[in-house]
Amino acid sequence: MFSRLRPLGVVGLGVGGVVVGYLAGNHKTVAHNSWTTNFKPTTPWDWNWDRRDPSSLIEPTTKPDGTLNKSALKKNETDDEKTERATCKATRYILLVRHGQYNLDGATDKERTLTQLGEEQARLTGERLNELDLPITRLVYSTMTRATQTAQIMMKHMKQQIDTVETSDLLREGAPIPPEPPLGGWKPERHQFFADGARIEAAFRSYMHRAPPSQTTDSYEVIVCHANVIRYIVCRALQFVPEGWLRMSLHNGSVTMLVIRPDGRVSIRQLGECGHMPPNKLSLT
Ligand SMILES: *[C@@H]1O[C@H](CO)[C@@H](O)[C@H](O)[C@H]1NC(C)=O
Ligand SMILES: *[C@@H]1O[C@H](CO)[C@@H](O)[C@H](O)[C@H]1NC(C)=O
Ligand SMILES: *[C@@H]1O[C@H](CO)[C@@H](O)[C@H](O)[C@H]1NC(C)=O
Repeated sequence: MFSRLRPLGVVGLGVGGVVVGYLAGNHKTVAHNSWTTNFKPTTPWDWNWDRRDPSSLIEPTTKPDGTLNKSALKKNETDDEKTERATCKATRYILLVRHGQYNLDGATDKERTLTQLGEEQARLTGERLNELDLPITRLVYSTMTRATQTAQIMMKHMKQQIDTVETSDLLREGAPIPPEPPLGGWKPERHQFFADGARIEAAFRSYMHRAPPSQTTDSYEVIVCHANVIRYIVCRALQFVPEGWLRMSLHNGSVTMLVIRPDGRVSIRQLGECGHMPPNKLSLT
């Protein structure tokens, strides 16, 4: 009598809004045309996610005790001038590189060195960044052996004059947050999540933010680190639920690119990109 897919009809909602419902077996599907349904996100985009919105950067003219701050007043700036001085003007392109394949049998970090394939992956990724000829000004790498080796091999193959090369313990591999869906055997109350989570969040806050107002040209920066750290940073930067980090998987030596605009808008241009590697250089297992 009834077909399996049964239109329920059209229901008016809001001014000219329409919702079309279907019953497909026991599954109910609702299609909204969002330009007419007064869509309100449950968690709207937080424009001041990095606390670098001009409103956060303009110094108050009063001191914490309520008295006037004479040195702030002495600048005698109009509100527009203050805002201009605190406004970001440039875009940051952040390239997150996962280290190459490494020896999983090593007992300590020092012994977990890149395999021969891992070294080749690092070389191919360095050559790729060289070919792209991006004006890279900064490269930061995790202090773990496999990331350090990857960064050093990459730099040998890049002709860019990188002004700032830094290492960071914040970027070391770890367990960022209990994943959803859970992973068997990983108890959410594991002490690793408790300790690493705060550190990896600190890595996100330290490295992912809009450019400082003093920066006048767009910048390209490379961060060489680890799959869990990159996946967590991607979720946080895009304001997706961080618990979803384990739903993504990244190739060894792959490049993920996040773009941070002056107004605080963030987009992802590529995730785990590894098209620069011939098939026999991809480590799939
Ligand atoms: C007073 O203003 C100056 C300039 O804006 C700022 O550097 C300083 O930290 C302020 N002092 C206090 C106590 O808020
Ligand atoms: C502040 O600037 C205005 C106009 O730019 C000027 O008329 C005024 O004299 C200045 N005040 C001080 C204290 O410098
Ligand atoms: C990357 O290499 C590690 C070993 O170093 C391996 O466990 C992992 O499966 C590889 N992942 C991918 C996606 O190539």
